[in-house]
Amino acid sequence: MITFDDYSDQYDAWFQRNQVLLESELRLVAHVLGERPGRTLSVGCGTGLFEQLLKSQYDISITEGLEPSAAMGEIARKRGMSVAEAGAEQMPMADGIYDTVMFNGSPGYIGDLDAAVAEAHRLLKPGGRVLLIDVPAESSYGILYRLGGAYGSWDDERLRGVLPADPYPVELAGGANWRPTQDKIDAALKAGFSDLSYAQTLTRHPCFSDTTPEDPIPGYQSGDYVAVCAVKG
Ligand SMILES: C[S@@+](CC[C@H](N)C(=O)[O-])C[C@H]1O[C@@H](n2cnc3c(N)ncnc32)[C@H](O)[C@@H]1O
Repeated sequence: MITFDDYSDQYDAWFQRNQVLLESELRLVAHVLGERPGRTLSVGCGTGLFEQLLKSQYDISITEGLEPSAAMGEIARKRGMSVAEAGAEQMPMADGIYDTVMFNGSPGYIGDLDAAVAEAHRLLKPGGRVLLIDVPAESSYGILYRLGGAYGSWDDERLRGVLPADPYPVELAGGANWRPTQDKIDAALKAGFSDLSYAQTLTRHPCFSDTTPEDPIPGYQSGDYVAVCAVKG
């Protein structure tokens, strides 16, 4: 799996150039968090870009993060987050202290998702929620990202006419382990979560997804960015 250490600047810069995608994803994340998510841990918080926007645009405060890439975590700290440098498979946090554990964009970069979701279960209070938000392998973007990774370049002739104007860095697209939504559902059930619910955004073809922002809709069968939400009983 790829490390984000060499991509921390590129990652944020890509989102800055892709404001419509950022806005659609942000609306989904804010929607599933709800107005009062309580004490929340952002797992794989990256540069803290979403957390900064959640605060400024929705007054949702997430100040605690976990991030294995020193370079990404450093930017999140500059944005005011407190970040533990660790992987999700073994999190250095006490049992039962969070109301919400959010994985935004990180499931595809985590080697052992079952272990990470079991850790989230351990960290949550009874009644707490895990949010697994990611690009499903079966979605248009999921397929495109795996093709880009396989071809090693967005310039391959076989991708002519199917790309968004400014695609995600191909190394990051190809360096992930994009999983079907069913794997995230299975990981949540295996860890002991119940009451699963779903929301999705980016429901147009990738080459048209950056025209206007989308509001999230229920379900997971047509979105290129999908949230699986589950409750610790
Ligand atoms: C696509 S970025 C998402 C960052 C941020 N949450 C966002 O939405 O902008 C994926 C992040 O997952 C992190 N990551 C990679 N392996 C991880 C692991 N084992 N545990 C937790 N996070 C991991 C990467 O370093 C990277 O910052």
